[in-house]
Amino acid sequence: MSKCIIDGREVEFTPGQNLIEVAKKAGIDIPFFCYHPGLSVVAQCRMCAVEIEKMPKLQTACSTVAAEGMVVKTKSPRTAQNQKAVMEFLLINHPLDCPICDKSGECDLQDNSYRHGDLYSRYTEERRTYLDLDMGPVIQKNMNRCIHCTRCIRFGDEIAGIREMVALQRGNNTQISTVDGRALETDYAGNYADICPTGSLTVKDFRFKKRVWFLKKTSTVCEGCSRGCNMEIHQDANVIYRCIPRENMQINKYWLCDEGRFNFQYVNDENRVVAPMVNHSVSDWGLSIDQAKKVLMGKKIAVLVGSDLTQEEGSHLLEFLPKHFPGSPIFHFGTPGLNTAEKDGDADRILKRKSKTSNLHGLEKLGFQGFDKMPKEINAVLVIRGGRAILPDLKGLVAVGLGVFMAPQVEEFSVILPGTSFAEKDGTIVNYEGQAQRIRRAILPPGQCKGLSEVLMMWVNSKSSSGAA
Ligand code: SF4
Ligand code: SF4
Ligand code: FES
Repeated sequence: MSKCIIDGREVEFTPGQNLIEVAKKAGIDIPFFCYHPGLSVVAQCRMCAVEIEKMPKLQTACSTVAAEGMVVKTKSPRTAQNQKAVMEFLLINHPLDCPICDKSGECDLQDNSYRHGDLYSRYTEERRTYLDLDMGPVIQKNMNRCIHCTRCIRFGDEIAGIREMVALQRGNNTQISTVDGRALETDYAGNYADICPTGSLTVKDFRFKKRVWFLKKTSTVCEGCSRGCNMEIHQDANVIYRCIPRENMQINKYWLCDEGRFNFQYVNDENRVVAPMVNHSVSDWGLSIDQAKKVLMGKKIAVLVGSDLTQEEGSHLLEFLPKHFPGSPIFHFGTPGLNTAEKDGDADRILKRKSKTSNLHGLEKLGFQGFDKMPKEINAVLVIRGGRAILPDLKGLVAVGLGVFMAPQVEEFSVILPGTSFAEKDGTIVNYEGQAQRIRRAILPPGQCKGLSEVLMMWVNSKSSSGAA
C-alpha cells in the first residue's frame, strides 16, 4: 500500500486518490467548497489549499493526487491564513442570513466560516443583492448566498445530462441561472439543493418547514422503483419532512430522482385512509374484519399482492393465503404493463427503473406470479398493498383492500383495512440486481393503521367464520 505523511501521520492511500479523500480516510478534515466526489474537479474555490513539502506555493488538495512519500501540512499557519482569506473573500457579498436560511445547520459555508474563518471582515461596500427566483417546481434560487462553486453547473452537465445551469456575467456579477431563465427540466432536480454548499439552491417543498437540527434521521431505502436507492427519512413528531440520498457507490452513488425523493408525500397525505371502512364509512377493526369475511364468503376470489410489500410480508402471505383462501389465484401487481420482472429495465440513463415498485424482483423470487388480466370466473378480489403499487382495473368486482389507500380509492372497495407504508415498518426488499436491502421504520403508523401481520392475526382470531372463501 502506498503511503504519504499528512500532519505528521503516516497515511495509506490508493493510487489516484486526491489529498482530500486520503486525509478524510485518516480522519483529517480539509475544508472545501467546489470539490464533490461525484463531480469533476475544477479547483476553483481555493479553500482546500495545503502546504506540500518541496512545493513553494500552496496546492489545492482536491486537484492534487497523493504520491508516495509526499509530506502534507493541512494545519500550518500558511494554510490557516489562506483559509481565513478565502472565507473573508467568499463572505463579502454573503447576506449572513443563517437565522432564516434553510441550509443553516448543514451548510458548508456556515461550518467552514465557524471553523476556519476570521471574526472580522474589512469589507465596507454595499453587498450585491438579488431577488429569490423560481427554478421550476422543485428548486428556489437565492443568488445572494451563492459562492460560485459551480457544483450545480457540473451536476447538470455530468450527472443529469442536461446543460441547463449556466453562469451569467463575470467576476463580482456572476450569477447562476438556467438557460434563458427556463424551469429546470431534469427529473433529478432535488440533487441541486443537496450538492449546493450554501443556501443558494433549496428544495421548495422543504423551505421554511423545519429547522434541520430538529429532524430525526432514519437510514432506509427508496420504494420508488426497483433500483432501491439508499436514502434517509427525516421526521419530527411523526411527520416526514423530507428524504435525502444516502451514499451507496454500488446502487445510487450520491443521488436520488425527484420521484423517489418526494414519494413520501402520500404517507402524510390528509386523504390517506387511516381508519377501517365498511361501505365507505368509518368502522372499527372487529366489525370491518367480520364484514370483509362476509363480503368475500362463497365468492371466487383473486388475491392481488402489491410488489411494494416486503419479503417478510410476502412470505407471511404465502403461508396465510392458501390456508384461508384455498384455491384462490394469487398475483403480484404494481406497474401497469409490467407484469413480470423480465420486462423491467432502465427507464433513463441515470437511476430510474421501469418497475414503479421496489420489490417486484423479490416477490417473484418468492414465487408470486404477475397479474395480467382478471380470470373470467373471478367475482371478488382481495387487494393487499403498501402505498406505491398502482391498482389495476378491478372491473367493479366486490373488493376488500388491506394496506395503504387514498380517499378517492374508497369507492372501489366494500371494506378497507388500513395498513402501513414503507416508512412505518421494517423489512427487506430485493432490487433488480438481486441485492437484498433493509427498509426501516421511521415513524409510527397514523390513526388506526396496522402492520400486515397484526391484521392477519386479527383475521385468524376474529369471531366470525375463520375462512372467507
Ligand atoms: S448555486 Fe450553489 S452549487 Fe451553484 S454555484 Fe452557487 S453555491 Fe455553488
Ligand atoms: S431511481 Fe428509483 S429507487 Fe432511486 S430514487 Fe428514484 S424512484 Fe427511488
Ligand atoms: S475544493 Fe479544492 S479548490 Fe475548491
